[in-house]
Amino acid sequence: MAETWDPSQYLKFAAPRLRPALDLLSRVDSEAPAAVYDLGCGAGAATRLLAARWPAAAVTGVDSSPAMLSRARREEGGAAITWVESDLAGWAPSDAADVLFSNAALHWLEDHDQLFPRLVGCLRAGGVLAVQMPRNHEAPSHACMAEAARAGPWRARLEPVLRPSPVEAPDAYHEILAPLAAAVDIWETEYTHVLDGDNPVLEWTKGTALRPLLEALEVGERERFLAEYAARLSDAYPRRPDGTTLFPFRRLFIVARR
Ligand SMILES: C[S@@+](CC[C@H](N)C(=O)[O-])C[C@H]1O[C@@H](n2cnc3c(N)ncnc32)[C@H](O)[C@@H]1O
Repeated sequence: MAETWDPSQYLKFAAPRLRPALDLLSRVDSEAPAAVYDLGCGAGAATRLLAARWPAAAVTGVDSSPAMLSRARREEGGAAITWVESDLAGWAPSDAADVLFSNAALHWLEDHDQLFPRLVGCLRAGGVLAVQMPRNHEAPSHACMAEAARAGPWRARLEPVLRPSPVEAPDAYHEILAPLAAAVDIWETEYTHVLDGDNPVLEWTKGTALRPLLEALEVGERERFLAEYAARLSDAYPRRPDGTTLFPFRRLFIVARR
């Protein structure tokens, strides 16, 4: 999918987006890995965490978005990180990896029943695959998007872009990984993000799931579609008297050791 990521929009919610990366990293038990990869590294916030935790490791961030990688290079802050532009659908490391880490990226790739075994196959014995993906596609943030897409003259343009989430239930990943791994740890967390500003869930999805839809619309339709979606969102996520908005968000975590 040819997608244009906007690092500034994505990073409007840098802290709550980084929290699951921190939670995932705290469960990765790897003493002194030599080769560490951040898959779908985006602007590199999690990659920098990996480099700080394992300063002696060769850390590589892999992403298909030139805009995200250029932001990552700019914010590298002295850490020796290698940045690689590549589509993960066909990517493999040059040598077996010790840690493959991925925060909020693999849900953009299809066919997880093939992708996850392929990634485990890229690990050396004892290496770790650590993945976090949103599993929030039934929440109003996404359901309202589909409703608004079907509720206007843009329907024919947007329906083909509405993409069912490839993220499965936890037991499906256990089924895929258990035969290939020495140990598998899977859990889910529903965060209650406390967001500021006007209709902040709209600002949140503009940085992620909404992008392919906005790209498919004619310029003149965008504002009308956004108004349709925004009205639904502000009913689903009302602003509280103190000005904040609560955004419950479920995420799936997987740590597999080969
Ligand atoms: C939501 S951002 C997450 C960025 C980063 N991991 C973080 O935690 O801040 C998702 C990233 O996945 C990347 N991505 C999506 N599909 C990809 C693919 N097929 N190959 C490589 N990167 C991909 C996007 O370019 C984007 O930078």
